[in-house]
Amino acid sequence: MSSASGERPIGVAVVGAGYWGPNLVRNFQSSAAFRLRWLCDLDISRARRVLGEYSTVAATADLTEVLADPDVDAIAIATPAGTHLKVALEALRAGKHVLVEKPLAATFAEGAQLVEEADRRGLTLMCDHTYCYTPAVLRIRDLVRSGELGELHYLDSVRINLGLVQRDIDVIWDLAPHDLSIIDHVLPEGVRPVAVAAHGADGVGAGRACVAYLTLQLNTGAIAHIHVNWLSPIKVRTTIIGGSKRTLVWDDLNPTTRLAMYDRGVDVSAPEELGADERRDIMVSYRSGDMIAPALVEREALRTMVEEFGTAIRTGSPALTDGRSGLRVLAILEAASKSLAAGGEMVTLEVVK
Ligand SMILES: NC(=O)c1ccc[n+]([C@@H]2O[C@H](COP(=O)([O-])OP(=O)(O)OC[C@H]3O[C@@H](n4cnc5c(N)ncnc54)[C@H](O)[C@@H]3O)[C@@H](O)[C@H]2O)c1
Repeated sequence: MSSASGERPIGVAVVGAGYWGPNLVRNFQSSAAFRLRWLCDLDISRARRVLGEYSTVAATADLTEVLADPDVDAIAIATPAGTHLKVALEALRAGKHVLVEKPLAATFAEGAQLVEEADRRGLTLMCDHTYCYTPAVLRIRDLVRSGELGELHYLDSVRINLGLVQRDIDVIWDLAPHDLSIIDHVLPEGVRPVAVAAHGADGVGAGRACVAYLTLQLNTGAIAHIHVNWLSPIKVRTTIIGGSKRTLVWDDLNPTTRLAMYDRGVDVSAPEELGADERRDIMVSYRSGDMIAPALVEREALRTMVEEFGTAIRTGSPALTDGRSGLRVLAILEAASKSLAAGGEMVTLEVVK
């Protein structure tokens, strides 16, 4: 709710003024639901530079100063993943609601600690899986969950380009959180991944996988596949979601037809009176219907994400991408690393309650 409704805006502080933090700063500043009070970075000159000369927002390098401010209700953390546990725990223990950039934490155990602490204190814990708030993904979620596609058969997600080879994480931890959080977000109630197998290669000798393939088994028998790659000379951002009735194709690099829903596919009928061999020939028929391109609103995903954080704080209900969704993504990432180390064997996923 905004100040227009008579309620005081939620006081918020952003921690981390590096590459991503300024995007949070800009969106909190333009939201009526929030008042940005502090920008905190160990490098205070960076925080000052982001705020500019005439800002009324305070810059500091000292988190305790921020946490002691009673006008701060919430903390948004945009520091490197290895610091998320420490900063988020301190904030929760000071009674603040917390938004953490993806990934929620560096390990599943750390993420679980954050979820537990927030639960115990009745505070909002949200993970910024930004893609989940894009108009395309919100529409995909509606289409999948309303049954437009029918029963889900497969998901196929490709996220490849000439990427920055990271020093501390492999391509799975760098890029797959996006695909995993999207899959987590759009799957219908009761449908979830139960196991993952990961294969990867380090062709350039970077010391970590630069190309990787994840195969997720879903509890319904459906399959999801993710291809992430830092070494591809062309950029591809395509997800296909195939259902028994229709198939959705999301091409994020095609601004005119970002989403396309095809009424084309394979129908299988099984006449009871036929024998097994005859059945195999007759059963399969191809459907060739229309393609429609659902219209999408133009809206910055971070703006919607910030609003969702405000609503979760005001209502006390879990955000669309709450701590648990961050934890489910961590469960898959960790299992994928285990599988990669074991030559690609299927690894059962930790269940997040
Ligand atoms: N949602 C997205 O699409 C998206 C995109 C990029 C990055 N991110 C996430 O944002 C986070 C930050 O990434 P980045 O690329 O901006 O990193 P960065 O290295 O550019 O910036 C991090 C900043 O945090 C500061 N910092 C580190 N530890 C701190 C501490 N304890 N207290 C205060 N300040 C501290 C550093 O001085 C630095 O300025 C990561 O979790 C990353 O995964 C998310």
